[in-house]
Amino acid sequence: MAPLKQITVAAPATVANLTVGFDCLGLALERPMERLELRRTREPGVTLAAIHGADLPLEVERNVSGVAARSVLRALDVEWGVELTVHKAVLPGSGIGSSAASAASAAFGVAALAGANLSPEDLLPMALDGEQVASGARHADNVAPALLGGLCLVGPDGRVDRLPPPDWHLTVVHPEAVIETAEARAVLPGAVPLTDALQQMARLGRFVHCCHSGDALDAALALEDVLAEPHRIPLQPYFKTIGHAALGAGARAGGISGSGPSSYWVSLDRRTADDVGRAISAALHQAGAGHQVHLSSISTRGAHVLSNDA
Ligand code: HSE
Repeated sequence: MAPLKQITVAAPATVANLTVGFDCLGLALERPMERLELRRTREPGVTLAAIHGADLPLEVERNVSGVAARSVLRALDVEWGVELTVHKAVLPGSGIGSSAASAASAAFGVAALAGANLSPEDLLPMALDGEQVASGARHADNVAPALLGGLCLVGPDGRVDRLPPPDWHLTVVHPEAVIETAEARAVLPGAVPLTDALQQMARLGRFVHCCHSGDALDAALALEDVLAEPHRIPLQPYFKTIGHAALGAGARAGGISGSGPSSYWVSLDRRTADDVGRAISAALHQAGAGHQVHLSSISTRGAHVLSNDA
């Protein structure tokens, strides 16, 4: 298929770890969505024309979108290049997969511009080249759902299994603060006690089982993290205030989203998720903390085309 002249694509924000699955579990949100415009150029290679909505480097090798796009171009071995215009809606350092949305939209966008027949699984390692620029690690728990949508479990061999998502209504809150993933990974221990590993394994097993049996409540009640969250709570602004408000308003469970500072709270119906959002907002207003709240189900939509021009 002949390459297109230009294309606009989008990729969703994501919640990684989901408390029970550090580095291996993540889900796609309905909003916010990152938008990326790609224009084919005669000159080979990647150029970054502009980044709207965030102050990020325009040098390709320091930019998540740039590196992911470059990896796909190299894999396709084409003679043309691509110019990127990034519209950040998923804010860097927010904990809802900003770098993954950039990496996934760039990898998916270059493949779509080329008309290449690459599956999301094919694109995953190239998107991870981009993710690595931001977090210093190749964890796919944000990138997989940003590419594929839904609720994704990433195996140790990199295989991605899409789990049947529980019928959850999520309230995601972003207190206005920035936590770099690399910084939040640096506080984690290099080894964990066997008893903690066993407990976490059993909880993840219970969660996966409940996804398959369709038990949304028990899936929520399985959410507890003894490996990473206890070490990261001291980094999280207002986490206890938010948790108190969320659980008091009817959320059944929740935790840090990715490496924070966002957190996510699980309700079993939309009205409760609304109440949870209002209760969190009231508590954060009282504390004088700026914040954003997003209400969302688990979205089946990963990276996708918004418009194109042959
Ligand atoms: N699994 C990663 C971490 C996600 O927690 O460091 C970062 O968003």
